[in-house]
Amino acid sequence: MLLDVSKIEAFYGASQALFGVDLSVAEGEVVALMGRNGMGKTTTIRAICNLNPPRAGAVRLGGEDLKGRRPHHVAKLGIGLVPEGRRCFPNLTVYENLVAAARPGQWTLDRVNELFPRLKERQTQMARSLSGGEQQMLAIGRALMTNPRLLILDEATEGLAPVIRQDIWKAIRRLKADGLSILVVDKTLSELLPVADRGIILENGRSAWSGKPADLTMELQDRYLGV
Ligand SMILES: Nc1ncnc2c1ncn2[C@@H]1O[C@H](COP(=O)(O)OP(=O)(O)OP(=O)(O)O)[C@@H](O)[C@H]1O
Ligand SMILES: [Mg+2]
Repeated sequence: MLLDVSKIEAFYGASQALFGVDLSVAEGEVVALMGRNGMGKTTTIRAICNLNPPRAGAVRLGGEDLKGRRPHHVAKLGIGLVPEGRRCFPNLTVYENLVAAARPGQWTLDRVNELFPRLKERQTQMARSLSGGEQQMLAIGRALMTNPRLLILDEATEGLAPVIRQDIWKAIRRLKADGLSILVVDKTLSELLPVADRGIILENGRSAWSGKPADLTMELQDRYLGV
C-alpha cells in the first residue's frame, strides 16, 4: 500500500473527532473519502498530513511511519495536499506560486500549464486576482509541482462555477489515467464515483463503509450520504 491509515484517533482540544479511522490507497489508485458534513473527512486528511497529528493509530506512506514528522516533511515524503479552501500565496504571481513548490520530477511548469491552460494565460497575475476556480487550479498545480506520490484533494470543486468544475474533473481524470494515486473528497457523487476505484464512508469519525463504487447502492447513499 502506498498510504496505509490504521485506527487513527484525532482530537480538537478535549473533543474527539476521529475514533479509529482506517483507509488505504494503493499505487495508482483513486480512493473517494465520503461522508456528510462534519463526519471527519477534513480531520482525517489533516491527521494524515500531521497538521493535526493523530493521538492514536498510525499513518504510513510507502511503509514509512509518519509519526512525529512535521507537515513540511510529510510533503517532502510525497504527499501533495490541496486543502479545503484552496490556499495559495495571494501576493505571489501564478508563476511564483508554482515554482515556489517545485521539486524535480515529471511534473514541470510546462505540464501544469498544459493541464490548466487558464493558468498559462495568467502566469504574471497575482494569485489574489484569480477567480475562485482559477485559484483552485493553482492549488492543484502547486501540489503537482511537488511531484507527489499521493495527491490529496479536499473539496476541490466546492463552490465553483459548473464549467470550471468540469475542467477540474477532467484534470482529475487525466491524473488518474496518468497513474497518479489520489485520495479525493467531493460532494458531487455523479463525478466522484465514476473516477474512484474504491470508496470509504465516514460517519461520526468512524469508517462506516468501504467498497467499490458499484456496490454503493442507493440505500447506502441515502443512509450515509443523504441530506
Ligand atoms: N477547528 C476545529 N475545532 C473544533 N472542532 C472541529 C474543528 N474542525 C472540525 N471540528 C469538528 O470535527 C468534526 C469533523 O469535522 P471535519 O471538518 O473533519 O468534517 P468534514 O467531514 O470535513 O465536513 P465537511 O463536509 O463540512 O467539510 C466535526 O464535528 C467538526 O465540528
Ligand atoms: Mg471538510
